[in-house]
Amino acid sequence: MPVTIRPFHASDLAALYRVCLLTGDASADATDLYRNPDLLGHLYAGPYPIADPGLTFVVVDDLGVGGYVVATADSYRFERWLDTSWFPVLRAQHALVGDPRDGTRDHELIRQIHEFVPADKAVFHTHPAHMHIDLLPRLQRRGLGRRLIESLGDTLRDRGVPGLHLGVDARNEGGIAFYDRIGFQDAGPSGGARLLTLGL
Ligand SMILES: CC(C)(COP(=O)(O)OP(=O)(O)OC[C@H]1O[C@@H](n2cnc3c(N)ncnc32)[C@H](O)[C@@H]1OP(=O)(O)O)[C@@H](O)C(=O)NCCC(=O)NCCS
Repeated sequence: MPVTIRPFHASDLAALYRVCLLTGDASADATDLYRNPDLLGHLYAGPYPIADPGLTFVVVDDLGVGGYVVATADSYRFERWLDTSWFPVLRAQHALVGDPRDGTRDHELIRQIHEFVPADKAVFHTHPAHMHIDLLPRLQRRGLGRRLIESLGDTLRDRGVPGLHLGVDARNEGGIAFYDRIGFQDAGPSGGARLLTLGL
């Protein structure tokens, strides 16, 4: 089967979680960093297609779904939905825990889930959409990341969305080089990340 890009289907959800974990340590495999393999996906993959399946696109080859872009068109509204509809079940399921000091980082993600406060950032007004993109190594550097962002950008433009933003780990040099090639602008530091924006 040729490599294809298509809109999200509900059966893709487990693969999205897998890809998220396998690229989740500033693009490297994060499997050894988490005892619970689903936590990263609960934050950075799953909620997007559940909230708005029309803004997720996946890459499929013979081995299955190996890449995706997930997004929201309205970050302000999405953050309120996270707080009222997505996180409450996860807060009940995952109690706050301390650092077990064994190198695992579940406690950090659980704290993010519990302490999440919806924001109203300036960038939400100029670039309301927000996205995450990840491809497994076998699918990287083949033009698929660019095509995923084109598919997303076309859909967002059709909805009248003026811009898109994201955060990239400052350690992820390959990711930063990619976004630069695609035309994203560096809008400065944001915690340990860089805030990048793209006009649509
Ligand atoms: C970053 C990522 C999405 C890029 O997608 P991709 O399909 O590999 O990139 P493409 O092949 O579409 O490349 C598009 C352009 O970016 C450049 N580029 C892509 N990856 C690059 C890298 N690691 N270093 C330098 N340039 C890079 C390409 O050379 C290309 O430039 P060109 O159009 O001028 O020829 C993908 O490699 C990936 O998922 N990496 C692991 C997870 C990750 O880092 N996600 C982002 C987290 S914020």
